[in-house]
Amino acid sequence: MQRLTTADALAAWRDDAGGRIGLVPTMGNLHAGHMALVAAARARCDRVVTSIFVNPLQFGPGEDLDSYPRTLAADLAALEAAGVDVVFTPSVETMYPDGGRSATRVQVAGVTDILCGARRPGHFDGVATVVAKLFNLVRPDTAFFGEKDYQQLAVIRQMVADLCMNIDIAGVPIEREADGLALSSRNGYLSAAERRRAPALAAALRECVDRLAAGERDFAALERQGTARLAEAGFDPDYFEIRSAALTPPDPGTRVFRVLAAGHLGRARLIDNMGVSAP
Ligand code: PAJ
Repeated sequence: MQRLTTADALAAWRDDAGGRIGLVPTMGNLHAGHMALVAAARARCDRVVTSIFVNPLQFGPGEDLDSYPRTLAADLAALEAAGVDVVFTPSVETMYPDGGRSATRVQVAGVTDILCGARRPGHFDGVATVVAKLFNLVRPDTAFFGEKDYQQLAVIRQMVADLCMNIDIAGVPIEREADGLALSSRNGYLSAAERRRAPALAAALRECVDRLAAGERDFAALERQGTARLAEAGFDPDYFEIRSAALTPPDPGTRVFRVLAAGHLGRARLIDNMGVSAP
């Protein structure tokens, strides 16, 4: 495995690389969720590039940019063991040479107005901008994103379509702990007591998708109940929403649903979602 840190080194590698190139963008602190993306890339591509970059542009004021867990040595060992060809670990200066003041931002309208986009202003601009830069640097055939960040996946798909990027975007299912908690770097912020309560998020989503599957269609009541479940478990709920798979509001004809939720538990902000197809 080669570790590359500059745009020039990456370009030189890319010019010589043959076959299908897969890209797995990450912010590091890798867990089995990230490694599922790497495994999917390994299965579908000839060369796999993983990037590790904690992107300042997608963190808001007062968010966890400074405390975000950085575990580079362990991450490199895991990627090497998983058969990754190149790990790209740029510095902030490499990605934002002018201190992040560059004139261009990628802003995807519409899908960013709701859910996490409504609560974290500018977050998805930061994500879309850095992912567009990574796409231009790596020029992948396929890029892999987790359904854990379902709205992020939708933003990237929209960007790629709108900007004619000609990159195949692969969504990978959520990896969970045995008790249902979706794996996340931010789970490390939980105290032991909070960790015991955290599976309530997945349980509330599970209850909602089961009721949708059973034919319930009072979306507002189901959302109120989901929000109440989070509050009962000690979360400060951010949202609990039923949407179509395309993230539009559901209507009586909707058959494929996505239920998405976010909430604060202690100093962690956790997000999760589940899909269900109704008969
Ligand atoms: P990060 O949070 O490190 O996640 C990197 C990728 O791993 C994302 O596509 C995310 O959806 C996926 N992932 C995280 N937890 C997962 C889980 N439990 N199961 C399956 N996939 C999971 O998302 C980002 O970084 C950044 O926003 C990034 C796209 C790298 C841009 O900076």
